Amino acid sequence: MKYVVINWKAKKNFAEVKNWLQAFFENKPKLDNVQIILAPSTPFLAWVKQYIEDKNIDDIKIASQDVSKFDKGSYTGEATAYSLQNIVEYAIIGHSERRKYLNEDISTLTQKVSLSLKYNIQPIFCTSKIEEEIPNGVRMIAYEPLDSIGTGNNLAVEKVIEFKNRKLKNNSRIIFLYGGSVNHNNIYEYLMQSDIDGVLIGTASLEVDNFLKILKKLKKRI
Ligand code: PGA
Repeated sequence: MKYVVINWKAKKNFAEVKNWLQAFFENKPKLDNVQIILAPSTPFLAWVKQYIEDKNIDDIKIASQDVSKFDKGSYTGEATAYSLQNIVEYAIIGHSERRKYLNEDISTLTQKVSLSLKYNIQPIFCTSKIEEEIPNGVRMIAYEPLDSIGTGNNLAVEKVIEFKNRKLKNNSRIIFLYGGSVNHNNIYEYLMQSDIDGVLIGTASLEVDNFLKILKKLKKRI
């Protein structure tokens, strides 16, 4: 099984989310060996979940792009794991944009991971550097080198695998993803590797036609 995680970041409004989903489900190819995990921004999660359920779509999972460091309680404005349980199956945690703009450090990220696990949400833990700590309980890692995010400079496959080997030291229980300027031209280079379990896609997932192009390409090969 290969994973394709779609991260829309904060780049879509409600009308755009609806249009994307409609076009997507009308045109998407069936891929038996690919698990798509869609991460819309928080305001749309429950709506997307309902949309998918109403249409009996069972081959897409939903992720949040973050989860609160707080448990259920008096934390106005927070999207807690408690509130997200049963809406999402996954949560992206530790994306470099949150580390940078929200100053999220390892103690915050560790709290987020443990609350996610408490409420049965699988963390997709992002890391950009070899020295960054991975909290206990994480089973899915996305390696996202900073120079490759949103730049068009995807990292060479060999370098991605080298990072994996240094970081995970043959820990085969971890699901290992790569993210950073993945698009329809390069996705297969990553997914054809037995060492790489999937990819995380930002920019190339925004336009639905572009993303469908990626899936159609995969369909021919996977
Ligand atoms: P990108 O973003 O595909 O636009 O490089 C990836 C990410 O930040 O997750």
